[in-house]
Amino acid sequence: MTFNRRNFIRSAALLATLPLSELDAFAAKGRLSRHAPPVADDDETYWRNVRQMFPISKSLAYLNNGTMGPSPYPVIEAVHAGMVLADRDCNYGGWEATSAKIAGLVGASPGEIALTHNVTEGVNIMCWGLPLRKGDEVIMTTHEHVGGAFPWLNRQKLHGIVLKAFTPAATAAETLNRIASLITKKTKVIAIPHIPCTQGQILPLQQICQLAREKGIYTLIDGAHGPGMLPLDLHELDCDAYASCCHKWMLGPKGTGFLYVREGFLSALQPYFVGAGGDDGKWNMAATPIEMGAYAPDAHRYYSGTQAASLFKGVDAAVDFIETIGIDNIHNRIKALGNYTYNELMAFGDKVEVITPAEPQSRCAIIGFRVKGVDSNKFYTYCLENSVRIRYVAENGLQSLRVSTHIYNNKQEVDKLMELISDMT
Ligand SMILES: Cc1ncc(COP(=O)(O)O)c(C=O)c1O
Repeated sequence: MTFNRRNFIRSAALLATLPLSELDAFAAKGRLSRHAPPVADDDETYWRNVRQMFPISKSLAYLNNGTMGPSPYPVIEAVHAGMVLADRDCNYGGWEATSAKIAGLVGASPGEIALTHNVTEGVNIMCWGLPLRKGDEVIMTTHEHVGGAFPWLNRQKLHGIVLKAFTPAATAAETLNRIASLITKKTKVIAIPHIPCTQGQILPLQQICQLAREKGIYTLIDGAHGPGMLPLDLHELDCDAYASCCHKWMLGPKGTGFLYVREGFLSALQPYFVGAGGDDGKWNMAATPIEMGAYAPDAHRYYSGTQAASLFKGVDAAVDFIETIGIDNIHNRIKALGNYTYNELMAFGDKVEVITPAEPQSRCAIIGFRVKGVDSNKFYTYCLENSVRIRYVAENGLQSLRVSTHIYNNKQEVDKLMELISDMT
């Protein structure tokens, strides 16, 4: 992690209105860097120091990382420094290295990573890029986010493709069976989330992709909740494309994302929005006949024109931050917090319905539940009034609640939520 005291103090001055003193945060960084991996998931001193790297209000129990991941100071500082640098030297560019940075984190090659603004943009590129015809079938879940569902619903409306949805089951094996039973000769795509936003269930992606590959079906994954939460190797998972963002589990600037397109899939996925960077430099409007040249040889064909250089500097810093702590340490810590949340909710017995599957491989940092006899939206508001932020899940008629915890959280914050549930039961 590039972290320099002078820069940090400048950023701390900029952030003077926030409740963290610059000395606290700087000291936290000092203690943080003394810890070499591995770190125990219950080393509370270490994780308290990590928390000090974030400007999150101390009075707020923020248990909603699944919607938005707050950035730590080094990311905020990198965005600021990136803007100053660009405006001082007046150079164009600055985002070229970010694809390689992201690729290193998710087990891809740099040429397989297109920069985007968010998951939704990546899903649209995947969805529109395939030459689907009327009657072609796409398998999805009944647990989609609007950003995962709406592009496909739009293609259904405009092109007559057929969407078929399954409900993720209580076990990975049964989920796989449900997908297999929906496959017909017309199935062209499996377009599912890696981890649905609703209840945080980790779907058995590798097995699903293997099944799809055997049947000649494309796998286009909504990966909003993988990178930064789990150690990932996209080559090993073997999906065709994976749309994600840097502003949730990667703790990067808001409005940054990426789309992974497997190298062998580039020629099958048609780019539509093209321009500078998306070309191979051979187009010539003055030639006779006019020449187009070709698309960029890599995933750069899916994003063109000027990018938000300073935000992507923040993404670089977010990857550095994750790698400084270690993705395995991060995963272990947030899995431990997820387990704690799960067990505490289960301890309410039949007063609370936990809807995330019990099997350990199918869950991590996101847990879904309902409080029996209590309107979920009303309970969500009650939590907000008490400075606990979770998420109300209205999607697809689920009417449930969701807790999502990251490395800046601790058990005491989860306990606060449990106290609020106790008030209701
Ligand atoms: C599963 C899933 N897909 C897509 C999205 C949309 O993400 P974005 O706002 O980055 O487009 C979200 C956001 O919460 C999500 O949880």
